[in-house]
Amino acid sequence: MTAAPTRTAIVTGAARGIGRAIALSLAQQGHAIALVDLREKDLAQTAQEVAALGVDAMPIMADTSDYEAARRHVADVAARWGRIDVLVNNAAVPQPRRILEITEAEWDSGMAVNLKGYFNWSQAVAPVMLAAGGGRMINISSVSANTGPRIFSVSRFAYSTAKAGILGMTRALARELAPTIVVNAVCPGAIETERTRANLGTHLDHVIRETPLARLGTAEDIAVVVTFLATATPMYMTGEVIDVDGGANIN
Ligand SMILES: NC(=O)c1ccc[n+]([C@@H]2O[C@H](COP(=O)([O-])OP(=O)(O)OC[C@H]3O[C@@H](n4cnc5c(N)ncnc54)[C@H](O)[C@@H]3O)[C@@H](O)[C@H]2O)c1
Repeated sequence: MTAAPTRTAIVTGAARGIGRAIALSLAQQGHAIALVDLREKDLAQTAQEVAALGVDAMPIMADTSDYEAARRHVADVAARWGRIDVLVNNAAVPQPRRILEITEAEWDSGMAVNLKGYFNWSQAVAPVMLAAGGGRMINISSVSANTGPRIFSVSRFAYSTAKAGILGMTRALARELAPTIVVNAVCPGAIETERTRANLGTHLDHVIRETPLARLGTAEDIAVVVTFLATATPMYMTGEVIDVDGGANIN
């Protein structure tokens, strides 16, 4: 039997993109990783890449909007490893419609993942971390929480609304779970992932021109900041929001 891991993390939306980079980065820091996603093939592939780094990988096929599933899977992770040190809420879906176009059903289904999904996993994990006497939660929001959708944005009205909600959720969790659990948020700018590559199209030059660091971000640019929030010791930040956007929204 293998020894219990010394540190563990749950990453939602870990099959690809930013979530995958976060899972790999935390694995490099020695965390066993529970990877939550709906994309079966990508999930298996990323879980393999995590395991290749020499840590335990636990792929979990689940929809983060399912409240009961979150509780069930968190119980499984806690039973397998005996601890959950880090939760990264990252799974989200694009919401391209504007206020005058979006339907009630689209609003509801987007909010179910982009906002309620973060609640589901935070509430399920919190008791485990509280009982253990510590833990870190990191919520992936977006600069569009602060700016609203810009001309090149893949996602618009309901997405910006949910992402702003995540900042409120982060601050509320940070206060309610202090001093035991530290909760912070990261706001990525325009990051090159499977999702954005297909959609940025003709706006690419514009985005790069408006970005002081003169390039799109990478998933690794986000993962390095998340890994800092997950591992830096000592840690005297909670309820903070960090923009990782190449300076695009300096104010
Ligand atoms: N890429 C960007 O430019 C950008 C910018 C700002 C914020 N973000 C945020 O970063 C995070 C990751 O974005 P990305 O670009 O890597 O997206 P992505 O679409 O490439 O990856 C998201 C992953 O989440 C999974 N997922 C979606 N809904 C799910 C659900 N209900 N249950 C389980 N898994 C689900 C998807 O299957 C996918 O693997 C998201 O929160 C996104 O809003 C991305």
